Amino acid sequence: MSFTGVKIVGVGHYAPARVVTNHDLEQWLDTSDEWITTRTGMKRRHWASNDEATSDLAAAAASAALVHAGLQAQQIDCFIVATVTPDYYFPATACLVASRLGAVDKPAFDVAIACSGFIYGLTVAAGLVRSGVYRRIMLIGAETLSKILDKDDRSTAILFGDGAGAVILERSDEDSFLAADLGADGSRPELLFAQGSGARRPLDHAALDEKVHLIHMQGPETFKLAVNRMIESTEAVLEQAKLAKSEITFLIPHQANKRIIDAAARYLGMPNGKVVINIAEYGNTSAASIPMALSEVVRAGLVKSGDVLVFVAFGGGLSWGAVAWRWHQ
Ligand code: ACO
Repeated sequence: MSFTGVKIVGVGHYAPARVVTNHDLEQWLDTSDEWITTRTGMKRRHWASNDEATSDLAAAAASAALVHAGLQAQQIDCFIVATVTPDYYFPATACLVASRLGAVDKPAFDVAIACSGFIYGLTVAAGLVRSGVYRRIMLIGAETLSKILDKDDRSTAILFGDGAGAVILERSDEDSFLAADLGADGSRPELLFAQGSGARRPLDHAALDEKVHLIHMQGPETFKLAVNRMIESTEAVLEQAKLAKSEITFLIPHQANKRIIDAAARYLGMPNGKVVINIAEYGNTSAASIPMALSEVVRAGLVKSGDVLVFVAFGGGLSWGAVAWRWHQ
């Protein structure tokens, strides 16, 4: 098995048409635009319609990435979808997306690690390309978190949105992958979880009445852990890559809360212009947030060859991670 380099040759993103503003939420929740804006940085989020599922969003983002790269779906060797809101328990959402795009008989699988999904997926996908297993991989972070939100719980209903971001990784002489730092701690799942109809608590009428299928989060505790883990993971990945903080062109963090991002960025000494934040428009889209933000800055022409990008996330699991990536056109 020969080791090569990997680079991203196409990006795309998609958000459902329906926009829910803070003022919309005020209509049925005891909340305010002022509270949501100051506590989270969020102004709007996009929620899927009743007949839109995660694979629909994922396919739209992936199609945009294919056009951006000038490729056909059949030229992709493997499809990975990072999501915790799959269309079904099984089959994997990635199988549905690959077929929808017209890719025949290609391998496809999901990565289910909540907000860290894109970081884990990127590490796996880059490894598969660099080790020579596949030439091109489509990696998509896609979520319809609105489908598992308790719309009457003001502490979570305001936070989450739907969307998808896609990247196409391709074998290359130049190597974009610099380092990865991944971690997980499953000892306190109740800090942030949706039990769904999982084997621990199969769905019955009582479970439905208790809303176990919806997101439950202990916000303040999660907040503190998120700040600390995102700082530690960024520092760890920089150390592995032998990079100084000043060498980062863009820090692209998971968009969970603007105060989490600001606190981490302040500690890391990152000036405002180097931290990519689009939380006002999309809210927290879990595994989709980083590839959506990446797609936006790349398509805006802000990322140049040689730039160093650091992706960092924290979320359910608990899980966290960072990837350092040198951009090659
Ligand atoms: N509107 C008005 N008041 C509210 C709202 C709301 N939407 N939500 C909560 N409050 C109230 C609370 O009831 C509380 O009132 P009390 O003092 O009378 O009891 C008060 O505001 C303060 O509540 P806190 O929960 O302490 O507020 P905090 O400043 O911590 O913000 C938040 C809450 C936004 C949830 C924050 O804790 C947070 O962002 N946590 C981390 C989220 C995160 O990072 N998740 C991980 C990634 S997500 C994933 O993996 C799927």
